[in-house]
Amino acid sequence: IKNIGVFTSGGDAPGMNAAIRAVVRTALYYDLEVTGIRRGYEGMIKGEMIPMDRKSVSNIIQRGGTILKTARSDEFRTPEGRQIAYNQLKKNGVDALVGIGGDGTFTGARIFGEEFDIPIVGLPGTIDNDLQGTDFTIGYDTAINTVIDAVDKIRDTAESHDRLFIVEVMGRDSGLIALRTGIAAGAEAILIPETKTNENALFDRLERGRKDKSSKIVIVAEAEEAGGAFEIARQVREKYPNYDTRISILGHIQRGGRPSCMDRVLASRVGVASVEALLAGHRNELIGVVNNEIAYTPFDHAIKHHSDINPNLLKIVEILSL
Ligand code: F6P
Repeated sequence: IKNIGVFTSGGDAPGMNAAIRAVVRTALYYDLEVTGIRRGYEGMIKGEMIPMDRKSVSNIIQRGGTILKTARSDEFRTPEGRQIAYNQLKKNGVDALVGIGGDGTFTGARIFGEEFDIPIVGLPGTIDNDLQGTDFTIGYDTAINTVIDAVDKIRDTAESHDRLFIVEVMGRDSGLIALRTGIAAGAEAILIPETKTNENALFDRLERGRKDKSSKIVIVAEAEEAGGAFEIARQVREKYPNYDTRISILGHIQRGGRPSCMDRVLASRVGVASVEALLAGHRNELIGVVNNEIAYTPFDHAIKHHSDINPNLLKIVEILSL
């Protein structure tokens, strides 16, 4: 391996810059060249590639977003698109890849790594935390801290007005953001796709809650199976016309901001490990951290869709929210 290409793909996540920095600096440490590929697979196809040096990653560890930009590419889903991407890599002298992203990124990487003779490994970069093969993904810790900061503020106003708030958080297929932030913000109930909580269970929770509580917060994962904030609010209003119910959708503020210390350290660890893994012959694997040790998981397994929900955490919500 002489020249490692690094790219970010899919939804951005705080800490991606720290990961890029780690990949670039580690490659240079091992006397390799590094090429930054802009806008994920889309930029790979278009040949948007730039040589990177120590300076190109200076002063980025603390910045949210991704300096390489990111995209979701339809063309890369086609064999023709992937062939063009491969040709572009060859043209630019890139002979190995580190991709930073989520399940969409690794679905693409898995196919690409099987079709072409190019070593590729992945780093977990998504606020959703919905990958197997790592305890936490880069961006998750920052995002959940952003959420509890927002929910604490909502609690202030909810308490002043005796209101019930339905707060929708991100997580397209996963309730992991909702579950942890629900515990940390003291939510009265959480609705997540994994447990397919129905409205009766929600009403039950609201009724079993202390009657003298003046504010109530329900955290809903945006995943459709969890109901969506508007639909949940409609049902709550129908059942409890006397509750003063409001909706708050936190949206993309969850994806921005300075990465937390945890995310920067995680990104740095897996970034270093990814280059070392390529040099040691690893291919088609996600580089994560499990039980505080670097872990190597085949892409196939890493993108298994359903996130594992820890039943102990669910039980904690059950006990503490009453
Ligand atoms: O996968 C990360 C994520 O932030 C999901 O939680 C969310 O559903 C999705 O990306 C939003 O994507 P977009 O930025 O395309 O609206």
